[in-house]
Amino acid sequence: MKSVIAIDGPAGAGKSTIAKKLAKKFNYRYLDTGAMYRAVTWYVINNDIDISNNKKLSEIASNINISFKTDNNGETYIYVNDNNVTNKIRENIIDKNVSDVAKISGVRKEMVKIQKRIAENGKIIVDGRDIASRVLPDAELKIYLTASVEERARRRHNELIEKGISSDFEKVKEEIEKRDSIDKNRKDSPLIKTDDAVLVDSTNLSIEEVVDKISSLIKEGD
Ligand code: DC
Repeated sequence: MKSVIAIDGPAGAGKSTIAKKLAKKFNYRYLDTGAMYRAVTWYVINNDIDISNNKKLSEIASNINISFKTDNNGETYIYVNDNNVTNKIRENIIDKNVSDVAKISGVRKEMVKIQKRIAENGKIIVDGRDIASRVLPDAELKIYLTASVEERARRRHNELIEKGISSDFEKVKEEIEKRDSIDKNRKDSPLIKTDDAVLVDSTNLSIEEVVDKISSLIKEGD
């Protein structure tokens, strides 16, 4: 059984949904690294800090305390210092700004340090953009999970509608394309599929089909 699993891919490919299900199935921990960049972004916006001030943002990333807590029902919450920001980091203002925070090297350095430490003891599924390439280059299984941009936008759009939030499909698609472009073109650890990663395209697959596919890869060789 593989113990350290890296899942990378663009926004809306289903990484967190799949990773959570896999973690539950194998009784592994789950680390959502995107949530950490979102947490830094929340802090920056909440404190009216100029988002283009790289030096200041790097300092913040090294000074704030980002932590995860799991309750008795297995629900995980993310904290910035003493603030439970679990829901706040999913707001649209964070979606719009997080890629610009995540491209700052000083911010990435701090997040990667914490992520490596959390993953140290194995039995963990970690999702993000640079997990295979930078955070856990020795992961025993690397997955690059993707889907067409239309499908990813449709999923996001439906999610918003279901939550009762008004949504414009074309705008959602544009925002996803913009985030993809920033994530793929930044200088420091851009989103890439490493040569040793298994490509899983979820465009025409159900959540269960993706979970089954990756589960077999986790168990392969047992
Ligand atoms: O997966 P997500 O949408 O929650 O990620 C939020 C942002 O953080 C996204 O723009 C990419 C960035 N990110 C990153 O640069 N590296 C990671 N390991 C995870 C996320």
